[in-house]
Amino acid sequence: MRIGILGSGLMGAKLGTIFARAGHEVVFSYARSQDKLKQLARDAGAKASAGTPREAAQDAEAVLLAVHWSRFDEVLQQAGDLSGKVIVTCSLPMNNDNTELVIGTTSSGAEELANKVPRARVVCAFNTVPSEVLFDVFEARHKVSRPSLVYCGDDEPAKKLTAKLIRDVGFDPVDAGPLRIARYTEPFALLIGQLAYEGDGGPELAYRFERFGE
Ligand SMILES: NC(=O)c1ccc[n+]([C@@H]2O[C@H](COP(=O)([O-])OP(=O)(O)OC[C@H]3O[C@@H](n4cnc5c(N)ncnc54)[C@H](OP(=O)(O)O)[C@@H]3O)[C@@H](O)[C@H]2O)c1
Repeated sequence: MRIGILGSGLMGAKLGTIFARAGHEVVFSYARSQDKLKQLARDAGAKASAGTPREAAQDAEAVLLAVHWSRFDEVLQQAGDLSGKVIVTCSLPMNNDNTELVIGTTSSGAEELANKVPRARVVCAFNTVPSEVLFDVFEARHKVSRPSLVYCGDDEPAKKLTAKLIRDVGFDPVDAGPLRIARYTEPFALLIGQLAYEGDGGPELAYRFERFGE
């Protein structure tokens, strides 16, 4: 799969690197330094390159949106026409100092994104885990018991593609339903952040749902 990374910071750099190591073609974009993007691409291996957001989105089967809420409009404008594209967003609608959600209960960042790009196919995923755990999960992907990862969206083929990416990273994908369920997954991400960054055990935290009675 060809995947464009829009936002190559903590989340985008790590997920892009893992996607490349899992065999996907990855284009890193949208950082303040082009040198950083080139270095990321070199480190991620032969399947990775650096480009502009437009280059990352062009011919991509999926783009990962991994920027601060305040950068959404700019990066989307730089990416150009995303009609028909799968946009996997891990971005959370946070205020400028990243202490609070600025949207919630009656909408979500993912739904607002879908409103901004109505012809794109938005899936909300990877937003409920800290970046610090991603490489550990990838390293542990051959173990029997995988951590869960919730995702949601309204377009079934786009969700199927996203579930594959989630599996490639090493998680067990949990389909939480339509995109409006991001109203629940986004606050859940803040709970995970609280446990990861304010708890005693460190930020290398993932979660796993268990079902009983089956
Ligand atoms: N970090 C986490 O653990 C985590 C977990 C779940 C969800 N999220 C969400 O995921 C999204 C990305 O988070 P992150 O932690 O990866 O953010 P980040 O590390 O700040 O990365 C954001 C990216 O955007 C780039 N950027 C920012 N301003 C720019 C500008 N003016 N021009 C060009 N590029 C610019 C940054 O460039 P530089 O590389 O030059 O800084 C960086 O590559 C956020 O919405 C966040 O809420 C994060």
